[in-house]
Amino acid sequence: MGLGYVGLPLAVAFAEEGHDVVAVDIDARKIEALSQGRSYIEDIPSERLQGALGRICPTTRAAKLSRCDAILVCVPTPLTANREPDLGPLVSATRALADVLQEGQLVVLESTTYPGTTRDRMAPMLEESGLVAGKDFHLAFSPERVDPGRTDYTLRNTPKVIGGLTEACAERAEALYGHVCDHIVRVSTPEAAELTKLLENIFRSVNIALVNEMAMLTDRMGIDIWEVVDAASTKPYGFMRFEPGPGMGGHCLPVDPFYLSWRAREFDLTTEFIELAGKVNQQMPYHCVAKVERVLNDAAKAVRGSRIAVFGVSYKPGVGDVRESPALKIIALLSALGADLVYHDPHVPSLPDGGLRSVGYEEALDGADLALIVTAHPTVDHDAIVERAPLVVDLRGVTRQRVRESAGSVLL
Ligand SMILES: NC(=O)c1ccc[n+]([C@@H]2O[C@H](COP(=O)([O-])OP(=O)(O)OC[C@H]3O[C@@H](n4cnc5c(N)ncnc54)[C@H](O)[C@@H]3O)[C@@H](O)[C@H]2O)c1
Repeated sequence: MGLGYVGLPLAVAFAEEGHDVVAVDIDARKIEALSQGRSYIEDIPSERLQGALGRICPTTRAAKLSRCDAILVCVPTPLTANREPDLGPLVSATRALADVLQEGQLVVLESTTYPGTTRDRMAPMLEESGLVAGKDFHLAFSPERVDPGRTDYTLRNTPKVIGGLTEACAERAEALYGHVCDHIVRVSTPEAAELTKLLENIFRSVNIALVNEMAMLTDRMGIDIWEVVDAASTKPYGFMRFEPGPGMGGHCLPVDPFYLSWRAREFDLTTEFIELAGKVNQQMPYHCVAKVERVLNDAAKAVRGSRIAVFGVSYKPGVGDVRESPALKIIALLSALGADLVYHDPHVPSLPDGGLRSVGYEEALDGADLALIVTAHPTVDHDAIVERAPLVVDLRGVTRQRVRESAGSVLL
């Protein structure tokens, strides 16, 4: 259930292993695309989908789940406007599932969520079917660890953590995932599995915030943050490399940690690291825009009326996902200052709100006063940008060798 970045690759992986997959989503456009063999997820090329389609039945009808042995729930877990967990999609998926739940089925929640969701929220709703969790049907939590765009670590070779409501639930889930994952890590409860995923994401969020705060400081001190990160990374133990950047994006890091801080409040605890990391990372787009203003100012130009070419607007290289992308904030801030903006992103043809469409690489550079590298897609020639644009601000450090030799260009 839920055929997005998480659900579709899972559906294809099981189909490729010879299992029949009922692929349910409420988005009729996605079901239509899948039925026609068109993938909308970069990690699953359409040819690969077409190869597996003989065993996949895309449908909007949850009723078809009644004939499945196992149901994997991969729906979104966003935040509300007040930054509290929005379990709306999970509740409606679970209700739809409860209507068709059969004795002997295995249900696994894959969506990232706070500890207690599987046991306290999902199980009672599923039990409205009259079946008892852990007795009449099996229930487990297994967090998805997919990293979109990544090819070295896939579903197959990334260890899969599983926490079952009972021992039998965990065993059943382990047997299922053993078909598509080489290594299973069993933890004792769904809560432990739920928190494992959050710890992983919070670890990244906090470390990104730490290096971003350093970057803001080194900017004032006149020290090159990239030189420092490169040098610190030579330490063979006790240090893990994280790179500064324009802030955090995607569905996970800006959202998931707040599931835990919300839950922690029920236990009279304020999760300081989560809040602080969120605060620091949210400041980064403002820091980046101030840097652009400064570079233009040094060249006796104002932001107003300057033509700024933004390279890369998705939240990470190699993917087209713009959810929570810091590029959107940077574009909005520069636009409010009166910049004449264009952008080039081979993965993002147009932006959801800004009314902007991606222009070609050449067209973006043509007449640009400043080039701003926000996300460095591997297929874009960034070194040539430094050669051709009069001013460059590189927020990802990909041109650091060239920028250091080039007047008027700066790194984050
Ligand atoms: N994207 C990632 O890299 C990633 C990695 C690890 C974990 N996760 C987690 O996995 C979950 C799913 O994330 P995603 O990125 O795949 O989201 P997504 O938005 O790409 O896909 C979710 C899909 O669920 C569908 N959906 C919503 N409500 C539904 C319902 N009631 N019944 C059936 N389908 C429904 C949506 O239409 C959508 O197609 C989230 O909890 C996320 O935090 C995501």
